[in-house]
Amino acid sequence: MPKMLSKEDNELLTRTGRGTPMGELFRRFWLPALLPSELPAPDCDPIRLRILGEDLIAFRDTNSNVGFLANNCPHRGASLFFGRNEESGLRCVYHGWKFDVSGTCVDMPNEPAESDFRTKVSTQAYPAAEYAGLVWIYMGPAERKPPLPLYQWCTRPDADKTTGTKWMQESNYAQALEGNIDSSHVGFLHKTFDHPTFRSGGRLESTQQVTATRETDFGFVYGARRDTPDGQFYWRVTTYAMPTFTQIASQSRAGNGIFVIPRDDETHWWITVNPPRPADEPERVQDPSMIGLLNGTAIADPATLGLIPGTWRRVRNKDNDYMLDRNMQRTHNYTGLPGNRAQDQAVTESMGTIMDRTTEHLGAADTAVIVMRRVLMRLARRLQDGLEPEMVSHPDRFQTTPMNVTTEQGDFQELWDAHEREFKAALASRG
Ligand code: FES
Ligand SMILES: [Fe+2]
Repeated sequence: MPKMLSKEDNELLTRTGRGTPMGELFRRFWLPALLPSELPAPDCDPIRLRILGEDLIAFRDTNSNVGFLANNCPHRGASLFFGRNEESGLRCVYHGWKFDVSGTCVDMPNEPAESDFRTKVSTQAYPAAEYAGLVWIYMGPAERKPPLPLYQWCTRPDADKTTGTKWMQESNYAQALEGNIDSSHVGFLHKTFDHPTFRSGGRLESTQQVTATRETDFGFVYGARRDTPDGQFYWRVTTYAMPTFTQIASQSRAGNGIFVIPRDDETHWWITVNPPRPADEPERVQDPSMIGLLNGTAIADPATLGLIPGTWRRVRNKDNDYMLDRNMQRTHNYTGLPGNRAQDQAVTESMGTIMDRTTEHLGAADTAVIVMRRVLMRLARRLQDGLEPEMVSHPDRFQTTPMNVTTEQGDFQELWDAHEREFKAALASRG
């Protein structure tokens, strides 16, 4: 088992700017970029977006189409953030050049009327799609633009009723992603002392479990197994769909999941998707520790109420040690932090903005982390050799669902095969 990454591999995994191997791989996928509510109406205020290290301005034009333009005007570089959103285009306020959502310059009032200079200038623009409750961006080569991905929730008839939440975290994306596929921290980092194992003696049960991974045509799956008292296997299977979408086993059939999207190499966007619950599925009991606390009051919507107004930064952040409560740590849980989100964020940001993986020591419990890195780095290297990631041209491969099941003892690979067959058959019969 590899104990660490080389310096070169760490660079390969973590750097996503334009021209880097991983950056080019991410640019082959449609990526969620905005919540539709950030651009609430035609001709609303343009907004800034940083993604994959690029500074963009997003706007919604008069016909409600979303555009992503390079921040700097191609004339002399003024920011289009200050632009005027008017009559199907964004007009730079410095000299009045105006661009539509495709980046075409549609007006150039400071040049002679007979000049054709306007037709020779355009600005960098990326395709946008408003789809399944999110606004997506495609930042790769125009001739390679793939169909929109059919992640599980995207195929639901009511997919457009999906809501998202979003905030910024201050570390490289890969650290957050590693946390999302690492089930071995769940029984520790997220445990409160009112859990039965503590009531009956105050000591943590072993968090060891049997694990199995399996590479798939969408990424990989990761199963964690416990043996039940009556000799059966209890499996919780997390799915990872390229490039960064994870669905944990306890999440419902609705298709809830998490994307981590590089903002730049030191920060990332954390985007959750929350589709409506299927009518025949019982409501999940909301665990208060999952929701989070703000000044001692439970907050229902961490995406809005937990943010510093006017920013995407959370109120609990590294500058205030996440408002760590040492008394809570003595009496309530290991971290002294309320809620999984603050707990995950604190540990992943504390590793440093770009974790130096040459110093780590990976054990058997880190198998999923190793597989995730292997899958991503392999695709990035292949792309450098001219081999496109196949998955993007097969949008149905993004459909996958996690699993939470008690079965007879048996092989994980067979169990997953059966689950996938069933899932695909159910989808097919739904049409
Ligand atoms: S800098 Fe934008 S029009 Fe001159
Ligand atoms: Fe976690």
